[in-house]
Amino acid sequence: MDHILKCHEIFKTDFVRGQNCYLYDSKGKKYVDLESGIWCTALGHNHPRVNRVIETQLKYIAHLGTRYPNSLAEEAALAVLNAVGIAGGKCTFLSSGSEAVEFGVQIIRRISGKPLLLTFQNSYLGGYGSAAKKNLDEWYLFDWSASDCLDEIPFERIGGFIFEPGGSGIGFVRFPPKGLVREIVRRVRQAGGLIAANEITTGMGRTGKWFGFQHYDIQPDIVSLGKGLGNGYPVSAVAMRREVALQLEQDGFRYVQSHQNDPLGCSIAREVIAIFREEDWVERGNAKGEWFLEGLKQLEKKHTVVKEARGRGMELALEFQPRQDFSAALAYQALLEQGFLVGYYPAGNILRFDPALTIEEEDIAHLLEGLDVVLESVN
Ligand SMILES: Cc1ncc(COP(=O)(O)O)c(C=O)c1O
Repeated sequence: MDHILKCHEIFKTDFVRGQNCYLYDSKGKKYVDLESGIWCTALGHNHPRVNRVIETQLKYIAHLGTRYPNSLAEEAALAVLNAVGIAGGKCTFLSSGSEAVEFGVQIIRRISGKPLLLTFQNSYLGGYGSAAKKNLDEWYLFDWSASDCLDEIPFERIGGFIFEPGGSGIGFVRFPPKGLVREIVRRVRQAGGLIAANEITTGMGRTGKWFGFQHYDIQPDIVSLGKGLGNGYPVSAVAMRREVALQLEQDGFRYVQSHQNDPLGCSIAREVIAIFREEDWVERGNAKGEWFLEGLKQLEKKHTVVKEARGRGMELALEFQPRQDFSAALAYQALLEQGFLVGYYPAGNILRFDPALTIEEEDIAHLLEGLDVVLESVN
């Protein structure tokens, strides 16, 4: 693998096939994927209905110019708006999560005309653009883990709050308190600002509800979706209240991107939402997540090296005590050898689990047994 730029860690280069939560390498060895790719395949790899929609749509049309969104975009928009609870709103389909978050940021700046946006210090908002850089002349970063004093926030200068309800992007799986989030939302709104939810990772059932913001009983004005929406295909979406959309339209707002509202991406998004609804994956995923977390908590009780098991729905983490002879990196390697792919975050000494909601319970049970063996060797 000499011609792929190494801009992050690469551990293995020979996965050739996927099926639900299983990945197979070129020698036929099977692995259980507990990361859903990078938190994307919420319904598992190689999903037959998603595949069928892709095959069918390819025979009609994959791509159209931005001036010609067809009825699939309208149908997918209705499905997204219905899911995020913004009936009557408007939607645009893009390609990546970063783009969908940045789009929300740009429209808030445009509408509010205010200099600052507010977000939590450790939220990951994307790979590029203003949201990735979070320059302090454009962003007010609030560290909710260090302070609950909101009086220091200059709400009158803030155009909007970009809320990432998982604290998940940087991997720590720590959830901001409900009261604090609700109070921030109240004060931002009172000062005339907008609320945008970054649901790239937490959306599509990941945290046990359709969307992470629903744990906070708030209704954002703008919601960015990605990852699970395409189940591995790169389609993202930005949904917004009708008033926000009309203001942008009247204001002459322009945004053009080559794959905006493409029929292929829209057909996939529409189908993925339909599968979620018809097969009840939010509820079913949540039930499996609760059971999985219970298993991780048993490991926490049994092994002193485990500092904490935590999570919501199917976004789970195991944090380890700092030790000379053990780390999350070592646990990751040991699990990989056993055939399990999990997330690991050296900075927080954390293993992370975000499997497809469609994972078999027996695979979770095997992972817990495998972890037990790894941790047994440490005590
Ligand atoms: C919380 C969050 N926001 C935004 C993004 C960016 O999404 P993408 O990588 O699809 O651009 C990610 C990606 O991991 C994410 O976790």
